[in-house]
Amino acid sequence: IGLAVQSALAVPKLQPRRTSILINPDAQPDLPSPQNARFTGVTPAIGGLNLNDIQGDILIGMKKKKELFFFFSITDAATFKSKLSSDIKPFITSTNQLLSSSTQPITAVNIAFSQAGLTALGVSDNLDDDAFTNGQFANAAKLGDAGTTNWVSGFAGTKIHGVFLLASDTVDNVDNELANLQNILGCSISEIHRLAGAARPGDQEGHEHFGYMDGISQPAIEGFTQNVSDGLGTVAPGELLVGETGDSLQSSRPSWATGGSFLVFRQLQQMVPEFNKFVANNALSIPGLSQQENEDLFGARLFGRWKSGAPIDLAPLRDDVDLAKNSSRNNNFTFNHPEIPKFTLASNQTNCPFSAHIRKTRPRADLGSDNTTHHHIMRAGIPYGPEVTDAEAYAQQSSTDPALERGLAFVAYQSNIAQGFEFMQEQWVNNANFIFGKPTPPGVDPIIGRVPGSAADTPRNVSGTDPLNPSKQFSLDVEFVVSRGGEYFFSPPISALSSV
Ligand code: HEM
Repeated sequence: IGLAVQSALAVPKLQPRRTSILINPDAQPDLPSPQNARFTGVTPAIGGLNLNDIQGDILIGMKKKKELFFFFSITDAATFKSKLSSDIKPFITSTNQLLSSSTQPITAVNIAFSQAGLTALGVSDNLDDDAFTNGQFANAAKLGDAGTTNWVSGFAGTKIHGVFLLASDTVDNVDNELANLQNILGCSISEIHRLAGAARPGDQEGHEHFGYMDGISQPAIEGFTQNVSDGLGTVAPGELLVGETGDSLQSSRPSWATGGSFLVFRQLQQMVPEFNKFVANNALSIPGLSQQENEDLFGARLFGRWKSGAPIDLAPLRDDVDLAKNSSRNNNFTFNHPEIPKFTLASNQTNCPFSAHIRKTRPRADLGSDNTTHHHIMRAGIPYGPEVTDAEAYAQQSSTDPALERGLAFVAYQSNIAQGFEFMQEQWVNNANFIFGKPTPPGVDPIIGRVPGSAADTPRNVSGTDPLNPSKQFSLDVEFVVSRGGEYFFSPPISALSSV
């Protein structure tokens, strides 16, 4: 088992980072996607992190217009191990390689292993993460999935040993790189499942399938993220990276795992026509706003951001594209803005409902200090599947044709799955009483929340969405996001690839 070398001296001199990638994609033709938002304001200064060893997707995200998730099982461990340490390792893209324009590969590759995969490779060290050890299939009920009948068969059980993440500008690049890897590994692996992600076309690039800009808000990392402008402070690197400062289990993690991170993968299908219909049917009736504006406001209040990405906490009445493009303002809010309520209500959810997706998943000042909640994840997902067809839009219903499945290939990194993704999904998103102590329970997260143990079509109630009547309950009788399953992985430091 190799040791992750903790040396900032090895870090090469890097180009200054640009600061407006997410915010104005058009102005950054080479980094056009908000999936690249984490390139924003990142410095190589590094706080003791070995950026040559940390896989690139974890802290800053691989640049991607296309991304392929290739899930495999290991059929010949001895051959696989030998190829991994010799021929595959050089393919794996580090954080430093992504940061430096001179070392960025055309196609970036990362790799991660499930517990079953580490076992297959003979790794006996316990990474001290029960969720990872159990695998996602065993924890499906805990996450609120309506059973596992909707799960892609490959995710059922613990068949998957590992995943390659391949990111590039074109499908051809990604496919070629996969062919290179498969060529090297030969019959030592077999494919279990693959999912091809792609940024949405045209002006929807960077927006998820419901139409909202994604990839905006990420935790700022102490000693690593520059220009922290969200007023939320920083989180310790150990909240995202195993074995680093701030990892509460640092002492029980094997040293070779330092700088690695647990990768939560979820294939989340999105029912887009159904969502659009729901939003249109529930348009608000705020005086002075047009029908369309009232509809848009309803949708924005489900998310907490407008489709442009502007936060409703700062733009509570109408979308504000200038705000959306302003990187120093767009994430600079805490939900604690009593000075600018646009609605005359004695509640601090006038600007943003307690139930809004971004408030349920990151309550900011609602819990005191954001950076002390210890429930942070770094997201690195990408949409998958085709655009809505005319027939689906007309029928206001998603096709049952599997070829038309669309959604989010959800990827989240953290040093502790129980405290990161699972806590968020179970204790916040699926908990109708969270945010606690409010006169009307906020309800589950309207986008991804589920009433635990319920059937797929069980209505979920959400309150706070109508700012003129915050106790009004909206009943969501369609699941807009359906879990198709996933797996928990460990994304090891690159040095460990030659020693597992
Ligand atoms: C933020 C969409 C699933 C956690 C966002 C944003 C959008 C979005 C549009 C706002 C943009 C941003 O700040 O990046 C979706 C969709 C999902 C989904 C369409 C499913 C198909 C999830 C899941 C989780 C999650 C499963 C975790 C349980 C978060 C977090 C934020 C966020 C932590 C940032 C909140 C903040 O810091 O303000 N999501 N999301 N999302 N989402 Fe999701």
